Amino acid sequence: DAGKGEYDHYMRKEIETQPTALSNTIEGRIDGGDVAFEDLPPGSFDGIESVQFVACGTSYHAAMYGGQLVREAGVRADVLRASEYESTAGPVDETTLVVAVTQSGETADTLDAVRNGAARGARTLAVTNVVGSTAAREADDAVYIRAGPEVGVAATKTYSSQAVTLALLSQRIAGDVPDATPVADRAAMLEALEALPAHVETVLERERAEPLARDLFDSDSYFFIGHGLGHSVALEGALKFKEITYEHAEGFAAGELKHGPLALVTEDTPVFAVVTGGDDDEKTKTNAIEAQSRGAPIVAVGPDEQPLVDIADAHLPVPNTHPVWVGLLANVQLQLLSYHAATQLERPIDKPRNLAKSVTVE
Ligand code: G6P
Repeated sequence: DAGKGEYDHYMRKEIETQPTALSNTIEGRIDGGDVAFEDLPPGSFDGIESVQFVACGTSYHAAMYGGQLVREAGVRADVLRASEYESTAGPVDETTLVVAVTQSGETADTLDAVRNGAARGARTLAVTNVVGSTAAREADDAVYIRAGPEVGVAATKTYSSQAVTLALLSQRIAGDVPDATPVADRAAMLEALEALPAHVETVLERERAEPLARDLFDSDSYFFIGHGLGHSVALEGALKFKEITYEHAEGFAAGELKHGPLALVTEDTPVFAVVTGGDDDEKTKTNAIEAQSRGAPIVAVGPDEQPLVDIADAHLPVPNTHPVWVGLLANVQLQLLSYHAATQLERPIDKPRNLAKSVTVE
C-alpha cells in the first residue's frame, strides 16, 4: 500500500486515490444532518470569538477555503501566511482560536506562528495528517485529516482532505459562537459531501486534461483565476503547475486581472477560469472575456451548466454539486492538468528541484 503500485508516480497515485482518502476524512463526522468531531463535542469552542488560520504553501490555500466558510458562518476569521504571522496577526487573546493547517505538522513557519499565538493567550488547534506530529502534540487540540501518507512533494490529496475537514470544522465552530449563522442549507451541503468521493471518481473517469495539456504546451505563461472559493482553487492550481512543470504560472482573484496582470495577457497565456456555481460566476465570466478579447485561450473549469462554458475555448468539466464542494472537484481537474503537463515535459514529478516535502527551517 505504501508503494507506487500500478502508478508511474506517487503523485498520480495520490490524485487517483482521493476518493478513498476523502471517504476516510468524512467517516463518522456527519451525524444526523449535523457535524460531529469525536474529540471536539458541542461547547468545545465556547468563549471563542474569532479564528486565525496559519499555514504555508498548499495548506494556506486549503486554509483560505476554510476561512471563507467560517466567515460565511458569521464568525470573524483571518487566513494568515504563517511566515508573516508577527506582522499580520493583530490583537490576539483568549477569545482567539489559532488553527495551524499543516499536512506534516512539522513546518517551522507554521509551528512558530502557532507558538506565537499561544504565548499571547490564544487557544490552539492543529489540523494535520500526521498523528503525533509536533503541531498535534503542542496544540491544545488536534483534528486529523486522515488522508493517508503522501509521498509526492506536491501536495494533492492532503489539500482535498484539509479543505473538507476545515469546511466541517467551520460548522462545528459556528455551533459554539453566539450569533453565528451556520450554513442555512447545511443538510443539503452535508448530503452533497457524502457524494463527494463518488464525484471525484467521476472526474477521474472522464479525464480530459491530457490532450488539453498537449494543446497548450509551450505557452509563455499560465494564468488561473477565480472568485470566492474559486480564488483559493485558482491559487492552488497555479502553485501546483509551477511546482512540477517549472513553467511560469500565476493565480489571481479574477477581478484583479484588470488591475495589472492583463498587461501580460496574449494568445500565448492560457487562462484557466474556475467557476463553482456560486454568486460570483458571472463576474468570473466577465473577467475571462476581458482576457479572451486580448487573444488568450480560456479554459472553463467547472460544471457543464456554467455560462462561462459557452464562451470558453476549452472545458475541464466537473459534476454539478453543492457550490461548497465544486471548487474541490475543479481542483482535481487542475491537479491532473499539472501532472500531464509535467509528464510531457519529462519533469521529475515526485521530487521537483529545490523543493522539500516538509520545510523545517524558517
Ligand atoms: C512545503 C511543501 C508544500 C507544502 C508546504 C506546507 O513547502 O513543498 O507542498 O504545502 O511545505 O507543508 P505542511 O506540511 O505544513 O502542510
